[in-house]
Amino acid sequence: MGLFTKKPIDKLLLDSADGERSLKRTLSAGNLVALGIGAIIGAGLFVRTAAAAANNAGPSVTIGFIVAAIGCALAGLCYAEFASMIPIAGSAYTYSYATMGELVAWIIGWDLVLEYAVGAATVGIAWSEYLNKLLEMFGMRVSFEWSHSPFEVFKDSAGVMHHGMMNVPALFIIFMLTLLLIRGTKESAVVNGIIVISKVSIVILFIVLGWGYMNPVNHEHYIPAASIYTDSQGVNHNYGGIWGILGAAGVVFFAFIGFDAVSTAAQEAKNPKKDMPIGILGSLVICTILYILFAHVLTGVANVNDFRTAGKEASVAYAIKTYMAGYGWLANLVTVAILFGFSSVILVMLMGQSRVFYSMSRDGLVPKMFSDLHPKYSTPYKSNWIFLVLVGGFAAFVPGDIVGDMTSIGTLFAFILVCAGVWILRITNPEIKRQFRVPLVPVVSILGIVVCGAMIAGLGWTNWARLGGWLLIGLVIYFTYSKKNSKLR
Ligand code: ALA
Repeated sequence: MGLFTKKPIDKLLLDSADGERSLKRTLSAGNLVALGIGAIIGAGLFVRTAAAAANNAGPSVTIGFIVAAIGCALAGLCYAEFASMIPIAGSAYTYSYATMGELVAWIIGWDLVLEYAVGAATVGIAWSEYLNKLLEMFGMRVSFEWSHSPFEVFKDSAGVMHHGMMNVPALFIIFMLTLLLIRGTKESAVVNGIIVISKVSIVILFIVLGWGYMNPVNHEHYIPAASIYTDSQGVNHNYGGIWGILGAAGVVFFAFIGFDAVSTAAQEAKNPKKDMPIGILGSLVICTILYILFAHVLTGVANVNDFRTAGKEASVAYAIKTYMAGYGWLANLVTVAILFGFSSVILVMLMGQSRVFYSMSRDGLVPKMFSDLHPKYSTPYKSNWIFLVLVGGFAAFVPGDIVGDMTSIGTLFAFILVCAGVWILRITNPEIKRQFRVPLVPVVSILGIVVCGAMIAGLGWTNWARLGGWLLIGLVIYFTYSKKNSKLR
């Protein structure tokens, strides 16, 4: 059996039959839209928007949001076809094992570690920034040294240099949520609903109340002239012009990650053919509109220089406190809501990570311990502990910009493989029943690959090198371990 051995779809369904309960078709299009919105609003909007404005695009980060949304919509449709064809709760890993063979499946599974595990670390770091804002309300804060990675430095107003040591709050939140995950969480629809409503409310409140505080000067060079900006860590970014916008799109793409969660609910949708595209595209459209307005107001209230200096962290709370006199309460409300909102995003990401490795472990591609279940809680606790070390390590010792961009580039790469996969499968297996079919294949697939590829291009060579290095490590593991231990062989 070769590298392109595929897992037969009927075997896949059989494997899943013992593990997975059969799911009831209860979700309407509206529920799916809410699910999508709940899964995606997080650090991408409340932290990465300011980073993209500072490093890449200034106010034209709004156009970056549009590019990112187009890439997501195209890839999202392809995800939906996969999900409706292989009707078990799964991810790009499961789908690709059945369609594109073991090696591609491994690459995707390995790559998804960037989306889920490194993504969780990114949101953990963002959580740490807003925690400091919360502590400031009580006149406290965690010192720069103990809330930043060793790669970050900061010069205070007295001219004293501070060097980061370890991001303790980020590590703390990852640790607490790992414990919760091991205990087993039944996703409570009520809690999820409250979090969705509070996240959407603060976004709308900020747009409405901030609108009057926009300073037209900040929007004067809406698309700044192309130049190179060197950030405080010495990394060069293409700033302004078309490359700036593409770079910003790659950065804020993070804000859309998680919408594919909608596609995994394909078998719970009442009418997948109609509801899936509405669910995926509907949540994307609503979020895109909110994101554009939010970014427009944020870059109007504070300026690019703020986002490069004092307002680099917890930028939304900073902008409100600094420029919106009398709205201190809003900054506090935003901070609290964000801390809860981020926690739920981290939880979903950690859960997604252990699910992917659980499947890979059952297939023999990673060691058995990743699918060992806790005797009492029936959760993959060993896997959770191992990922605590990895995610915690990233959160504690790597800057947020770096993990954020690694998450974006890794997910974009997975999206490209999914777009290609749908097209390939139409040719190799036209007979498989698809409850939902992407219109205009291969046009949609090709456009998806081009738009996601453009964002990868915009992220710059340091990120390409990181992705390349990550995939290389993955290939070494595949050829030394997984290939030999694969159950299918
Ligand atoms: N989209 C999620 C966020 O922005 C991952 O936090």
